[in-house]
Amino acid sequence: MDPVSRLAELDRLTERGGGETRRWRQHAAGKLTARERIDLLFDPGTFEEIDRFVTHRCRDFGMEAERIPGDGVVAGHGLVDGRPVWAFAQDFSVFGGSLSETNAAKIVKVMDLAVKMGAPIVGLNDSGGARIQEGVLSLGGYADIFLRNTLASGVVPQISAIMGPCAGGAVYSPAITDFTVMVEGTSYMFVTGPDVIKTVTHEDVTKEALGGAMTHNATSGVAHFAAADDRACLRLLRDLLGYLPSNNLDDPPVVPTDDAPDREAPALDDLVPRQSNQPYDILRLIHAVVDDGVFLEVHQHFARNIVVGFARLAGRSVGIVANQPAVLAGCLDIDASEKAARFVRCCDAFNIPLVTFEDVPGFLPGVAQEHGGIIRAGAKLLYAFAEATVPKVTVITRKAYGGAYCVMASKHLRTDFNFAYPTAEIAVMGPEGAVNILHRREIAEADDPAAERDRRVAAFREAFSHPFVAAARGFVDAIIEPRTTRRRLIAALAACAHKRDQTPSRKHGNIPL
Ligand code: HXC
Repeated sequence: MDPVSRLAELDRLTERGGGETRRWRQHAAGKLTARERIDLLFDPGTFEEIDRFVTHRCRDFGMEAERIPGDGVVAGHGLVDGRPVWAFAQDFSVFGGSLSETNAAKIVKVMDLAVKMGAPIVGLNDSGGARIQEGVLSLGGYADIFLRNTLASGVVPQISAIMGPCAGGAVYSPAITDFTVMVEGTSYMFVTGPDVIKTVTHEDVTKEALGGAMTHNATSGVAHFAAADDRACLRLLRDLLGYLPSNNLDDPPVVPTDDAPDREAPALDDLVPRQSNQPYDILRLIHAVVDDGVFLEVHQHFARNIVVGFARLAGRSVGIVANQPAVLAGCLDIDASEKAARFVRCCDAFNIPLVTFEDVPGFLPGVAQEHGGIIRAGAKLLYAFAEATVPKVTVITRKAYGGAYCVMASKHLRTDFNFAYPTAEIAVMGPEGAVNILHRREIAEADDPAAERDRRVAAFREAFSHPFVAAARGFVDAIIEPRTTRRRLIAALAACAHKRDQTPSRKHGNIPL
């Protein structure tokens, strides 16, 4: 065959993938094909494929006769909102998207190129796992990918979309990446599937309940986002990339806005209820403050007592961490601490300033929390805030009690600007708890113990439950009117625009994992 015809034939076979029937099956399952996904991920017409004609080298199990150019993964680069991004998409129509030696080599190649070029890498996962016919060569391919994931961590953003099966050791690549998005109804992740579980522990569980999108979004916290279908997932990936820089040496893109930097939000003056134990929704504050009210919440369904996500202020990306008084009174527990710690470290790695809204009564009390390691988990969040060198601004809206005061990006953890609303209560603990410890005897011996307790609580509140002691010490830089929050944050971040901060030289710290 002459070279031109041969090229045309190879191209035809590559595009055909696993064939019409398997493509039909993919669509019937509610999924797009690997190439359709790539087309939606990138700006139209910008995707450049590499290694289109790579085939596997397996000679066992009659595999020699079944060589499909591309070998079950589409790899290359293109533009997302005009910026270079590298990607691979596993093609379930070719050997179930399973990972062979050569297929892994293609993925490793785009990962290495992404790091060298300083561009994000996106993996669209839809695979039956290790290619069974290739045995240890396939396992080696996974380990090669895991090494790249680890070395690229904190260098270029890595995002995984789970758009089909992802089982066994294959789950560890997404787990190392910065963000995992799962498609509802068609994706699942687990280390061992329902059949093995049934044999070992006699538990009956479906794939969906074990490792479906909502399980990992709401229960395990393994996934950061759930998308209704493939199209929504790919749109989300594009949105998410817009908040991130191309690499750890760049800044995130600036998105111009008509939202005035000095816009006031009068409704915020009444956001925090007068009664200090009444809940309110911290999302109202976030939406009122950020550019155009747009907030991309990360881990929306997991540990809802803390809110984390991306927004922009005066066009620049910020990472927001906010206690949520509407859930568990905004207490910090194990899941909330770990969720926020990972987000803080991600922002710090990628030069995204941190804005913290604090209203926290403390760490969640309980045997389960203590035995589950709340000490270790809380220390992670403290460590993450302390080591972060990106611009950091904190606003205390109401409670900042006890250890949680220290942990939530307090001045002492080298936070650049600490603001408090006039409603802030900064103390070792709430007035009722404090009075019970300090004046138990006096209250018990009083003629009217209830009246005595009320009197003591009121006196404690007057002495401590406000921001003025902290402001007198400089632990709070300014007490601000809530309506001015946006302006104050933007001014603070502008002052930090050329911030330089350092951490002692070392191989790496030892965060309490
Ligand atoms: C080779 C595979 C394959 C695999 C699927 N196929 N998985 N080929 N190696 N791992 C092929 C099937 O033979 C079939 O080929 C096609 O892909 C589609 O598979 P179906 O079973 O028809 O699809 P479906 O019913 O949707 O089921 C999908 C599935 C199932 C749940 C993923 O195929 C499955 O259980 N596969 C095995 C999963 C597994 O145990 N993998 C190893 C995990 S261990 P035809 O020609 O009929 O279209 C692992 C270790 C990683 O991955 C270690 C890292 C450290």
